[in-house]
Amino acid sequence: MIGFAEFRKIRVRFSDTGKGRTIVLLHGFPESMEVWEEFSVKLSRHFRVIAIDLPGCGETPCIGYVHPMELMAECVKTVLDSLGLRRYVMVGHSMGGYVALAFTELFPDHLSGLCLFHSHPYADSAEKKVDREKAVVLVKKDPKHYVNEVITSLFAPDNLSLFKDDVRELKQIARRTTRQGIVNALEGMKERPKRDWLLQYAGYPVLLILGKKDRIVPNELLLRQTSGLKHVQILMLEKAGHMGFIEEKKLTQDSLIRFARKCFSRSSKK
Ligand code: MLT
Repeated sequence: MIGFAEFRKIRVRFSDTGKGRTIVLLHGFPESMEVWEEFSVKLSRHFRVIAIDLPGCGETPCIGYVHPMELMAECVKTVLDSLGLRRYVMVGHSMGGYVALAFTELFPDHLSGLCLFHSHPYADSAEKKVDREKAVVLVKKDPKHYVNEVITSLFAPDNLSLFKDDVRELKQIARRTTRQGIVNALEGMKERPKRDWLLQYAGYPVLLILGKKDRIVPNELLLRQTSGLKHVQILMLEKAGHMGFIEEKKLTQDSLIRFARKCFSRSSKK
């Protein structure tokens, strides 16, 4: 079912499918909860699955002129509270992972597990911040062109023709994001702090899904900083760029199901 929750006077769209323990899916940039459609169908055979349109994305309107990750996390919390949910496994793809990390800092007691799906806990470098500023100028001039370029850059080059229908569909989803929604997310990501300490001290299992051909996530740094942490599990996708839930669908779906089962069996023993 599709539902709406109120947060700071806006209506936040979410989908709610399946029954049982809850998995929360947070999409990346510049996307919407629609990217999780196939995943939701598959995961909802085993769990209750909530996917949310973050502020400025899909059908959820913008709030002001910047969307800090903390504001998006509070929005997610409002949706989950409105459904009476107290504990869940949270899965964040890229920007959704930045939001999930802000969430775990603000509301640590609600997590049974965390999956960073092509995401990381570092702040933008000085160079990346300049890129975000350039992106804001481009979006204001020609959002359609900007979105097409971004979506193309997310896939491993070899996968662009292999998954051409998915690429086209993703571009359509991204094009529905308003200019303001894109700018607000860029500004919010630009100002996010690093949260790497959260991965060190997480009191729940963490799954990192990485793409060998990802051009956005600093895989090596992340692997170095998490090696030896018993609660952190790594899944390296050999054939994927930044879009493993499309580029390596079955493997990522099955891994998430296994991971969530492990998280829930551990939390029910506590
Ligand atoms: C995303 O896929 O959500 C973005 O590429 C993340 C980013 O730009 O840092």
